[in-house]
Amino acid sequence: QAPGAATLGSPSSLASAAQPAGKLTIIYASQTGNAKGVAEVLKAEADAAGIQAELFAAGDYKGKNLAKETHVIIVASTHGEGEAPDDAIELHEFLQSKKAPKLPNLQYAVIGLGDSSYEFFCQTAKDFDEYLAKLGASSFLERLDCDVDYDAPAAQWRAKALDTVAQTLNSCPAEVVQLPIGQATTVVTYNKQNPYSATLLTSQKITGRHSGKDVRHVEIDLEGSGIAYQPGDALGVWYANDSALADAIVAKVGLKGDEVVEVDGQSLAVREALVGHYEITTSNPQFVTRYAELSGSKKLAKLAEDKEKLREYAANTQVVDVLGEKKATLDAAQLVGLLRRLTPRLYSIASSQEEVGEEVHLTVGLVEYAKGDEIRQGGASSYLVQRLEEGAKVKVYVETNNHFKLPADDNAPVIMIGPGTGIAPFRAFVQERDNREAKGKNWLFFGDRTFTEDFLYQVEWQKYLKSGVVHRLDVAFSRDQVEKVYVQHRLLEHAAEVWQWLQDGAHVYVCGDANHMAKDVHNALLTIAEQQGQKTREQAEQYLNELRKSKRYQKDVY
Ligand code: 2AM
Repeated sequence: QAPGAATLGSPSSLASAAQPAGKLTIIYASQTGNAKGVAEVLKAEADAAGIQAELFAAGDYKGKNLAKETHVIIVASTHGEGEAPDDAIELHEFLQSKKAPKLPNLQYAVIGLGDSSYEFFCQTAKDFDEYLAKLGASSFLERLDCDVDYDAPAAQWRAKALDTVAQTLNSCPAEVVQLPIGQATTVVTYNKQNPYSATLLTSQKITGRHSGKDVRHVEIDLEGSGIAYQPGDALGVWYANDSALADAIVAKVGLKGDEVVEVDGQSLAVREALVGHYEITTSNPQFVTRYAELSGSKKLAKLAEDKEKLREYAANTQVVDVLGEKKATLDAAQLVGLLRRLTPRLYSIASSQEEVGEEVHLTVGLVEYAKGDEIRQGGASSYLVQRLEEGAKVKVYVETNNHFKLPADDNAPVIMIGPGTGIAPFRAFVQERDNREAKGKNWLFFGDRTFTEDFLYQVEWQKYLKSGVVHRLDVAFSRDQVEKVYVQHRLLEHAAEVWQWLQDGAHVYVCGDANHMAKDVHNALLTIAEQQGQKTREQAEQYLNELRKSKRYQKDVY
């Protein structure tokens, strides 16, 4: 049996049932690929159960067609402040518009993915549920709003959903067909549940000795895996936590570390469970609230009353910091019961297979900050940068990202804006366009703190400029002069040319910080459209919206 088959549970009641005659349509609204992953597993499970199922990205699904469907499952992520994923905006808007058809014949179910530390938890899923009900469709299974740690609840919900679908699709008793259980699961594909055990080839520091940041160029060997990826895709990395941090945590709650806990039916020392199976480098509001009760900490109890303050506190602390607020004695099961399961981290891929073959490259910034006298680190970045030795195994899988893809037309110009580690996918883009001998022009905007310490891949860019693959390179080093200079300032300085490139059909890509940079770059693009295109603010917004819809404005921001 293929690895990964174990995760493809098929609904039990189907084993001896007749093959259903109707069809199930699965639509996913995904930003970073999680919803897509859940939808793909659902599709494989439906196949395995003999249910005819079709899978669509929300952006590829015509809302009007819902009127022709009988069974639909929507898998929807929410991002930012309750917004629908970019690719799903159109379908989301369509369903609340007057153009949406009545859906009296539709049976549907919605599963949401989100993060409960946000106010608008699973809002997109809630919206789809509400809109479909308003249009007269009937829900065949109660919506499930999954939190960050969604694997197990989503698997249970899928099994229930497929059981119900199988029962309600028109069965055709005349043709009783034995179900091809297992057939659909024989293709080995590596994914989140079934990652590939790859080898770390090199990890090389690419910021200078005096830089305030530690950024690594990481090369991973995929030889023999058959794994393929495209520029713009991300690599999912399963990591292990720092054992010293796990020891500090168990000590805080009065444990020794060798007490045994059950994880997925396996007995493990609590220390090992924390290293390999639980999130300990992030905190979260539920954890803080529950620990406030257990420990009787007045400070935490007060924080728990104010949702906004609680979220901010949780975002800036790690598990060990919360435990440090007030001592409580816990047993091992209680401790792990408070924590979320470990989830892999996604890194934008920094290489093209046209250039590197069976390797994958990443640009990894070590996340590190001071908390009082202690240094706190990010889980995956410290694993890749410090704990993983060259030659060691690392579990990875590719997460395709269809919302961050080079233009199909090699002649189209490309504008890439990627300060800091946001440069990663553009190294892949440029390698790809170089190997394809694409005629389209490439313009790169890069920014970081200082020219001498932080110019990531400087030598490579110079080579590409010289060979004419990169036509323009504009850099913004924010700390090389008194006033801050950022990539958006460079865009504005070259407003006329940026506008000309856009008139010539340029595709614009932004990668990096979502909180500030991407918003400021967006505003700079609005200003350029206003000033150069003689547009009102509203028209400029419309213009960028159109660019986004035609996939000429794509973001990979985090
Ligand atoms: P700073 O830290 O000196 O302020 C990569 O991290 C680069 O992005 C750094 O030069 C950083 O500058 C810069 N940066 C910080 N905030 C930014 C923003 N709002 N827009 C664009 N770049 C920003």
